Amino acid sequence: QTDNHFSNRVLTWFDRHGRKHLPWQQQPTPYHVWVSEIMLQQTQVTTVIPYYQRFMVRFPDVSALATAGVDEVLHYWTGLGYYARARHLHQAAQHIHSQHHGIFPTQWAEIVALPGVGRSTAGAIMALAYGQRYAILDGNVKRVLCRYHAITGWSGSSAVSQSLWALAEKYTPANRVADYTQAMMDLGALICRRRGALCEECPLHSDCQAYRQQAVDAYPHSKPR
Ligand code: ADE
Repeated sequence: QTDNHFSNRVLTWFDRHGRKHLPWQQQPTPYHVWVSEIMLQQTQVTTVIPYYQRFMVRFPDVSALATAGVDEVLHYWTGLGYYARARHLHQAAQHIHSQHHGIFPTQWAEIVALPGVGRSTAGAIMALAYGQRYAILDGNVKRVLCRYHAITGWSGSSAVSQSLWALAEKYTPANRVADYTQAMMDLGALICRRRGALCEECPLHSDCQAYRQQAVDAYPHSKPR
């Protein structure tokens, strides 16, 4: 089986069942994708939507965010939690405003260097906003891949994380990379749920090792203690 088998299945599922009308998908500019991905790092989509909408009315672009006071940015974040995210967002906006004339960087290395942006968020921005072939590996994608390959070991360990990144990169297709990236997030959130996975509806179940073992709930393995 080719690596395309995986992405083809995921993309066909996305065409029928994926989320295509989220507010940040209307105009997936790098600024919109960046802010939404930071909000979505530890918060569910339904919670994020009204915060995202208010945020974009007040801070419609990088420069509006950069020139606001941090207290006002935090005010717009109140209720979302993990306030370091808002501080990093503000710091990154100031950096883009002063060093890049307010124009969001286009290179992966510059994006991943922004405060609050890790490898997966940088990949999401490259894929969703620029259509470039970069992999993501957030909690949802980790769970899908750990189950698909019945990966034993804690997914936070560096050995497992390395294998997961290699798989994530292998499966990321050259075509339709934005749809594929959204599809993997949707598949993890809607079907390959942490508890109560809906395997019968999953486009990958016929090749999923954890499903074959009837042990989906056992993956990913939790932190050893
Ligand atoms: N979680 C993280 N990023 C997401 C996105 N773009 N859509 C839905 N859920 C997400």
